[in-house]
Amino acid sequence: MCGIVAYIGSKPAQPLLLEGLKRLEYRGYDSAGLAVLNGSLNVARAVGRVVNLETKLKGLPGFDGTLGLAHTRWATHGGVTELNAHPHQDDKSGIALVHNGIIENYVSLKALLSERGHTFKTDTDTEVLAMLIGELYEGDLEAAVQAALREVTGAYAIAVICAQEPDVLVCARKGSPLMVGVGAGECIVASDPSAIVAHTSQAFALDDYNVARITREGFRTSTIDNKPVTPKMMQLELDLEQAELGTYEHYMLKEIFEQPASLRTTMRGRVDLKEGKIVLGGLMDCAKELVKSRRYILIAQGTALHAAMIGEYLLEDLAKVPAECEYASEFRYRNPIIEDGTVVVAVSQSGETIDTLAALHEAKDRGALTLGAINVVGSTLSRDTDAGVYLRVGPEIGVASTKAFTGQVAVLTLISLFLARRRFMSDEQARTLLDELTKIPDAIERVLESNDTIRRVTEKYVERDNWLFLGRGYNYPTALEGALKLKEISYIHAEGMPAAEMKHGPIALIDEGMPVVFIANKGPQYDKVINNIEEVRTRGGHIIAVATEGDERIKTVAQDVLYVPDVPDCLSPMVTVVPLQLLAYHAAVLRGHDVDKPRNLAKSVTVE
Ligand code: M6R
Repeated sequence: MCGIVAYIGSKPAQPLLLEGLKRLEYRGYDSAGLAVLNGSLNVARAVGRVVNLETKLKGLPGFDGTLGLAHTRWATHGGVTELNAHPHQDDKSGIALVHNGIIENYVSLKALLSERGHTFKTDTDTEVLAMLIGELYEGDLEAAVQAALREVTGAYAIAVICAQEPDVLVCARKGSPLMVGVGAGECIVASDPSAIVAHTSQAFALDDYNVARITREGFRTSTIDNKPVTPKMMQLELDLEQAELGTYEHYMLKEIFEQPASLRTTMRGRVDLKEGKIVLGGLMDCAKELVKSRRYILIAQGTALHAAMIGEYLLEDLAKVPAECEYASEFRYRNPIIEDGTVVVAVSQSGETIDTLAALHEAKDRGALTLGAINVVGSTLSRDTDAGVYLRVGPEIGVASTKAFTGQVAVLTLISLFLARRRFMSDEQARTLLDELTKIPDAIERVLESNDTIRRVTEKYVERDNWLFLGRGYNYPTALEGALKLKEISYIHAEGMPAAEMKHGPIALIDEGMPVVFIANKGPQYDKVINNIEEVRTRGGHIIAVATEGDERIKTVAQDVLYVPDVPDCLSPMVTVVPLQLLAYHAAVLRGHDVDKPRNLAKSVTVE
């Protein structure tokens, strides 16, 4: 989604801003722009990659100041054109502004400003905000920004500069993340910590309705009503090397192969095999309340939702507590019933997904205790939940989520076992499961060894435009995830569903040679899955089965078998999903697509 970088200090702003924009590229965007204040306001924009902007800037004078702001845009209001790219300017006071989010009342504001004689050049809601700030400007940028934001509804993270105040950078946030990195005599503002850590590890996240006025001497923060607020400083711990591609061709492939290591990190210090215990520091303050709770609701979107669905099975199966999983986007608008003793668990890689955030706030307002299973430390969700367990899988750059999925499932397994041991699970059963859990990274390593086989199988079917993914029980969500992975990066139409649902309609789709992926690992429903496979085979479908090593029977019913090690059914999705991730990856590469930057997609969805 859109990205913001802004700088004030003593170094030339332009290279720093471009470098920051490149670090944000993975989030997805379609145009980029930059403004530098150097006596006058200098603005440049380009459609396409940041490198296009960089090339354009080479021929332009005036961009060597030490205060500036930059943006990558993912179009919402107004097409992908140079004119619609940020920064946007006003026509009166020398304002330049970059914005993430959506100004919902921009139509009425635009009408009002037009009546006052302003002329608009673009189709964007952002230009309206720039114009409004310019209209309200009376020599104090901070005050003008505060006044303008009191007039707007919607979501925003903004950075603003003004030609009349060459030493001031103002930024503000509501509903869209923004962080201020604080260095010696300089500050770097960004929508994502990855653009900050190369310069400083000291930072604070702006809270909703907060504004920061930043100069080279320091900063002050206030609400949009000008009440002072004290930000909470944090130490950014992002390892930039982890975010580099290394020898891999794509981030997605790197992240798939990182899973054994990332899962070991997720579990490190949390699984005590000797004592047969789970140690989750982030839950200790409310452990008693969690154990007594009567109902768990898991909310998420996309891949995180599929992990949350597995969490629902785990909580009921292991911890024996009623659990249900729901799209955060549906939960937030459907007047949900939250009774006493309800825990709402937000599952998210970025911790910034707007629907998950809004659903969480809804749950909190209705009195739920809230937990997070989040990857990005210091993200809004991690700050707004009452307690939680970080995924610790490191930065996920590929738009298609892979290691975050297995990390989310691992964390939900840990939470379920944490509760299970305090509720009904025997010491013996817990020890057995914990032992098996710590072996999951080894099992994934074995699956990764069959990467070449998976590529060869993919080659056989890559021309086919319609695929089905079927599974049962714990591996029904895995089937959904396999289908999502395939469609989002290879643009092949794929549907995932419970294997039993096929007969209720989708079986009509099956024709000669249609690839149908079955997750057919050895589990309680294995025989039922074999029956479903027979039904597809009879109708000409080509079966690709993900099956347990040593299963010879599967070869008699499936054209292709992708073997995975034998692990307990409740832990199997972390293993069975890996061949599906690789299958999607190879399909996208074979079809010639940009795996890490799939069309129309953004890494984190921060607007509705
Ligand atoms: O950052 P989150 O985990 O909250 O993101 C949720 C979804 O937007 C995300 O999983 C999306 O579906 C990915 N593109 C899946 O690969």
